[in-house]
Amino acid sequence: MTDPDGYGSHVDAETAAATGWFEPLYADAGHGRAVVPWDAGGPSPYLTEWARAAGLDGKGAPALVVGCGLGDDAAYVAGLGFSVTAFDISPTAVEQARERFPDSAVRFEVADLFDLPAAWRQAYDLVIEIFTVQALPIALRPRVTGAIASTVAPGGTLLVVQRTRPEGATVDGGPPYPVSRSELDLFLADGLRLEQLEQLPDDRGGRWRAEFRR
Ligand SMILES: C[S@@+](CC[C@H](N)C(=O)[O-])C[C@H]1O[C@@H](n2cnc3c(N)ncnc32)[C@H](O)[C@@H]1O
Repeated sequence: MTDPDGYGSHVDAETAAATGWFEPLYADAGHGRAVVPWDAGGPSPYLTEWARAAGLDGKGAPALVVGCGLGDDAAYVAGLGFSVTAFDISPTAVEQARERFPDSAVRFEVADLFDLPAAWRQAYDLVIEIFTVQALPIALRPRVTGAIASTVAPGGTLLVVQRTRPEGATVDGGPPYPVSRSELDLFLADGLRLEQLEQLPDDRGGRWRAEFRR
């Protein structure tokens, strides 16, 4: 999946190993042999609650949904009036998202965070990142956060939702690989600033909901 114009172009054995299990999972789930554990059957409440509070009205502005999976968040953001591109590394997930939302204007695309199209650099007024960072090993974190941050347009907003990890705590097993407070700050490296940070309690250690702006 190498785009000659890709500005990431860092697909290598490490990233291939970290991302290689998503497509078989979606394919197995498509045949009823597995479940997609993060499929909530609707848009994320962390997104819908935030969007309602912000009174979001896209007015056709470009938005990007990272690791879109089966497409619910992308369809929701399109419903807010944004012109949405949503991508996932899994061709089966993208195909299923297209099938699930045939009337949606969302452009569902197969793309790899580690090899994003050059045209996506600083191109999106709204970027939604929910649970992709935590799904990838901690060693890859600066590359993942850097790639996501690079898509935010000047003046644009990035919403990040991840499971929290106490600072200094090690991760046993995974995925997921929860995100520490200092790892959240990796999003600042590309010139973003932290606009708002919430630590939302839940029954599994809590979630970060962070809003960054360029
Ligand atoms: C934990 S799931 C979260 C899906 C969705 N955002 C949600 O909240 O339900 C992570 C998603 O990221 C996708 N993904 C993982 N690595 C990726 C990469 N390098 N580029 C694009 N998508 C990736 C997976 O296929 C999967 O759909």
